[in-house]
Amino acid sequence: MFGIAVLISGRGSNLESVISAVEEGWLKCRITAVISDNPAAGGLGLAKEMGIKTHVFQGESVSDSILSAVKEHTDLIVCAGFLSILRGALLDVFQNRIINIHPALIPSFCGSGMYGLKVHRAALDYGVRKSGCTVHFVESGIDTGPIILQRTVEVIYTDTAEDLQKRILEEEHIAIVEAVKLISENRVEVKGRKVLIN
Ligand code: GRF
Repeated sequence: MFGIAVLISGRGSNLESVISAVEEGWLKCRITAVISDNPAAGGLGLAKEMGIKTHVFQGESVSDSILSAVKEHTDLIVCAGFLSILRGALLDVFQNRIINIHPALIPSFCGSGMYGLKVHRAALDYGVRKSGCTVHFVESGIDTGPIILQRTVEVIYTDTAEDLQKRILEEEHIAIVEAVKLISENRVEVKGRKVLIN
């Protein structure tokens, strides 16, 4: 069965959507591991409850440790709110097999240091009428890999960053599952910067 490893740093609501989709049979995948760079990440508890193998890796060697943990049985790595930057051999071995979800419409409000509420504050400060989320492949640049899919939300004049974050998170939960589904069904082809969905 198509194996996915999920990387998290925080509460793990995107992980929860993936787990639910697997449980419901909507995703024909097996979660091989949940990996975190934060021992206090809420999602680790959820993974353990579900009987999923968990690992915590921190420091300079995070990417190498992830590679050794997922080398076998894992077809796709899903970064679901994972804050460490992936580097080195992991990126080569898993080329076009690592995806990330970002809470904005890339190429806006992304890149180094853009995570959490900062992203939504920047979108509100700019005055955009729409924001959303992006699922993209991971390469060595931060948030620069080919885009698999995006979902949008309207920005309301009175929105706070928290309001926008909440509304976008709901779309993330749909987008992340959709992207995993498309890839696990072998329907995604990367052609340079563009991604073809078959
Ligand atoms: C999400 O907004 C995701 O886009 C970002 O980090 C957040 C993680 O949320 N990269 P959760 O841990 O899945 O609840």
